[in-house]
Amino acid sequence: MSDWSLDLPLLQLSDDDIWTLKDACEGVQIFGGTGSGKTSGSGRVLSQRFLQAGFGGLILTVKSEDRTDWINWITQAGRADHLFIIEENGNEVFNFLDYELKRPKGGHTENIVTLLTHVIEIAAQRSMDGGNDPFWAQAAKQLLRNTIDLMKLAEAHLSIPDIYRVIISAPTSQEQITNANWCAKSYCFSLLKKANQAVKNNPDLLDDYTMTETYFLNEFIAYADKTRSSIVGMFTSSVDPFLRGTLRKLFCGKTTCPPDVTLKGGIVLIDLNIKDYSHIGRVAQSLYKLMWQQMIERRDIQQNDRPVFIWCDENQFFLNSFDVSYQQTARSKRACTVYLTQNIPNYHVALGNGDKGKAMASSILGNLSTKIFHANSDPDTNEWASKVFGKAWGYKTSVTTGDSQSENGASSNQGHSMSQQLNNIIEPNEFTTLLKGGKENSFIVEAFIHQAGRTWKATSNNYLKARFSQE
Ligand SMILES: Nc1ncnc2c1ncn2[C@@H]1O[C@H](COP(=O)(O)OP(=O)(O)OP(=O)(O)O)[C@@H](O)[C@H]1O
Ligand SMILES: [Mg+2]
Repeated sequence: MSDWSLDLPLLQLSDDDIWTLKDACEGVQIFGGTGSGKTSGSGRVLSQRFLQAGFGGLILTVKSEDRTDWINWITQAGRADHLFIIEENGNEVFNFLDYELKRPKGGHTENIVTLLTHVIEIAAQRSMDGGNDPFWAQAAKQLLRNTIDLMKLAEAHLSIPDIYRVIISAPTSQEQITNANWCAKSYCFSLLKKANQAVKNNPDLLDDYTMTETYFLNEFIAYADKTRSSIVGMFTSSVDPFLRGTLRKLFCGKTTCPPDVTLKGGIVLIDLNIKDYSHIGRVAQSLYKLMWQQMIERRDIQQNDRPVFIWCDENQFFLNSFDVSYQQTARSKRACTVYLTQNIPNYHVALGNGDKGKAMASSILGNLSTKIFHANSDPDTNEWASKVFGKAWGYKTSVTTGDSQSENGASSNQGHSMSQQLNNIIEPNEFTTLLKGGKENSFIVEAFIHQAGRTWKATSNNYLKARFSQE
């Protein structure tokens, strides 16, 4: 039996309009210009309700003050004992490859290769489809596939630095294989020997072993030197940030804080904010986000239906192509997405300004059911927001005036006519005058709210003008 009713009230948006857990599971997008009150207004109220209700959560950070703000909110909600902070020189670490290898129904080489290609895409900020020449991407994936199979057969520890060790010690000539000195030093060769031994104890592994051995002792050697170094370089240059420093410490050793802690009510705060940690912060958080979203897609809500949330303020830093498919399934997994950003162009820049990027942005936004629009001066966002609310038939009064000459002299006449026309329910300029909080506005932040398919009771219409207190 479920402990969580989808009717659980979370926000009272007007005297008659309640926003529930079901609404939260359908996703939230908050827009508003800089200083419009996204974080301190609607964002703060929403996060407080999630925390008070006992949700687990994942929080990504962008500004240096995010850590203090969230620790305060989590403490005020009485949830401090559920907090896990992933930070530089902290105690919480997560080896994502080892996690993927050992998780229930995990460990499939092809899935680990796919995960690695996602990680390479995140780290290199480019697609690993090889562009016009897919040979390189296919060859790099083949190298990874054989490396991971070899490591699994030899029961080696799986992490990016370990994969790197295997690849750079793989034989590049027949002479090396016959040189006892070289063989003794090569990590790759030592794993081949171990794997060979493992096959003797378990003949079921023979097919996998034969493929791997043939690859490393024949195919890989047969490549021209330039080709081989290009294939290896494609991997090593992309994962370089994981071979040293903070990313290595946090994501390549042990695991204390897997994404699953959130299903038990854990609140994971990744304090590697983008402003201070730049590329490393973006890679670390995007990686954890990806692993968390994949875990959510697998979760069995019959066993445990505790709601969880993912919170991405300044979401343009974390958006990626995986969000498209994730948002399509998140609602059935009791996972509440809250994305905040200033404007639509931020998303187009993040996903690529071409048609593909714009289509991805539309798909993600289409799957976030509740949209909260704070004050904004960006014309593209205001036009788009106005279109979200749509148009309604209204009457327009026209006045016609004219001069006429008669024997008594000139006179003017006036006529009134009424015509029906389609008007914007919310005009684009209405988003420019919403209250932005602060002392001058008595700490009140205003927003127009739209929720797909919902007619608000307070307005008998699809818009609700809500007020949030910053205090
Ligand atoms: N707790 C608070 N009490 C009163 N005023 C606040 C509080 N927090 C922020 N403000 C002020 O209210 C305004 C809105 O701030 P807020 O940080 O919520 O904006 P935002 O929409 O998140 O902006 P950004 O896009 O820059 O993150 C700002 O002028 C800010 O200085
Ligand atoms: Mg903000």
